[in-house]
Amino acid sequence: MKHIEITTNNEKETLELGKKLASYLKKGDIVVLTGELGSGKTKLTEGFLTYFGLENEISSPTFTLVNEYIKNDIKIFHFDVYRLEDSSEFYAIGGEEYFENGICIIEWGEIIQDTLPEEYIHIILKKDDINDNIRLIDVTSYGHKYDYILTDLFGGTK
Ligand SMILES: Nc1ncnc2c1ncn2[C@@H]1O[C@H](COP(=O)(O)OP(=O)(O)OP(=O)(O)O)[C@@H](O)[C@H]1O
Ligand SMILES: [Mg+2]
Repeated sequence: MKHIEITTNNEKETLELGKKLASYLKKGDIVVLTGELGSGKTKLTEGFLTYFGLENEISSPTFTLVNEYIKNDIKIFHFDVYRLEDSSEFYAIGGEEYFENGICIIEWGEIIQDTLPEEYIHIILKKDDINDNIRLIDVTSYGHKYDYILTDLFGGTK
């Protein structure tokens, strides 16, 4: 487990963060995004998809639960599970089968926490109280699988 805090000063920096993070990920990897409305979860996901050249295709999965993207045989699943009551609904749609079939990025993933494997990256975004363009971003890797990414991405210094 590793934990890092970073600040982004505008939406572009959050997008860049998503883009960089995506460059490390492969099939079976999971990123959970948590944060109040408008905190930048979808913006970070947009960065993520930009890395795969899918920036024009992003749509919010708020009403569909999951959007699927595919690029060079890599599948990316973008979930928004905000509307789920609990994990049982997630199991009902065969949710965990997605985990091994592609890269999963899950907005509000803590709602379905008990369905998640032990190892995943959790990103919590908070709006700054004063400046509308600043986001305080907390990144934790659970397990060890992703520790090197946090070290590599942030050098452990930021
Ligand atoms: N540093 C920043 N990082 C990300 N977004 C920012 C930043 N500063 C301002 N913004 C703005 O905040 C908004 C973030 O919206 P976004 O849709 O990504 O949030 P969200 O967390 O997905 O919200 P929701 O829970 O409603 O889906 C955008 O309008 C974006 O332009
Ligand atoms: Mg969103």
